[in-house]
Amino acid sequence: MKKKIISMIMMTVMATSLMACGGTASDTAKSKTVTEATTGVSGQTTATTEQTADTAASAAVSGSINGDGVGTAGTLIMATNAEFPPYEYHEGDSIVGIDAEIAAAISEKMGCKLQIEDIAFDSVIPEVTSGKADMGMAGMTVTEERKQSVDFSDTYAEASQVIIVKDDSAIASPDDLKDKIIGVQTGTTGDIYATDDFGDKNVERYNKGMEAVQALSQGKIDAVIIDREPAKVFVKENTGLKILDEAYTTEQYAIAVAKGNTKLLNNINAALAELKADGTLDKIVSKYITAE
Ligand code: ARG
Repeated sequence: MKKKIISMIMMTVMATSLMACGGTASDTAKSKTVTEATTGVSGQTTATTEQTADTAASAAVSGSINGDGVGTAGTLIMATNAEFPPYEYHEGDSIVGIDAEIAAAISEKMGCKLQIEDIAFDSVIPEVTSGKADMGMAGMTVTEERKQSVDFSDTYAEASQVIIVKDDSAIASPDDLKDKIIGVQTGTTGDIYATDDFGDKNVERYNKGMEAVQALSQGKIDAVIIDREPAKVFVKENTGLKILDEAYTTEQYAIAVAKGNTKLLNNINAALAELKADGTLDKIVSKYITAE
């Protein structure tokens, strides 16, 4: 009998921590509810409950923002595609970049640990809608179409799609792309808009932006449409390429969460606002992007 009560209480504690990252006022309130639920049970059982609650809380770092809205106890799971310097890329065994650092700062404020999942870019939104990840953060552009399937946080970066060509190319503006073969990363806004503007048969899709740029270097395609900051990195890494002065689009990046997860959305926005206000965001950006 006693054993059964303990396991029931444990389940209550687990269910509580499923929704929160710990170290916050609301967690304390929840732990208290759990403890109250044990009234009438022996003192020993109550002690077990409190200990479990404490352990759950101390597993996460403590932050100033209530960690509600994540699917796994104490952990904010971020889906990304780490082929996108300077926003997210591999450095040795870790994933680094602007998004990785902003996400770490958000997690800290929420009292969560951060777990980054590196997947194909066109799987990031499905991973969020299915609940496997709490948020998608991948230099992701806010679009009306994506808003149909996910909710977006406040924007945290201005971006644009640019056109990369060979140094000696006759292509000088977006208008010159007609009938040319354009390389893009699958599922990106570059892919979506180029397909709309120039037709499916003129768009060559690659798993990674870098692969499209390499194909351009090798003369297999005529141009690449990709976000400006990764374009700058890729052009530097491959000789004989340039970025056209005229941008193809201007866009804004935001973090995607499952539709209706307002708890998490509010927490992310609150964290972003603090990071903007105290200069952390600018500091992270200038660590990775040097002004020209
Ligand atoms: N901004 C573009 C988009 O949202 C490209 C993002 C690609 N991001 C990445 N991590 N590979 O479609």
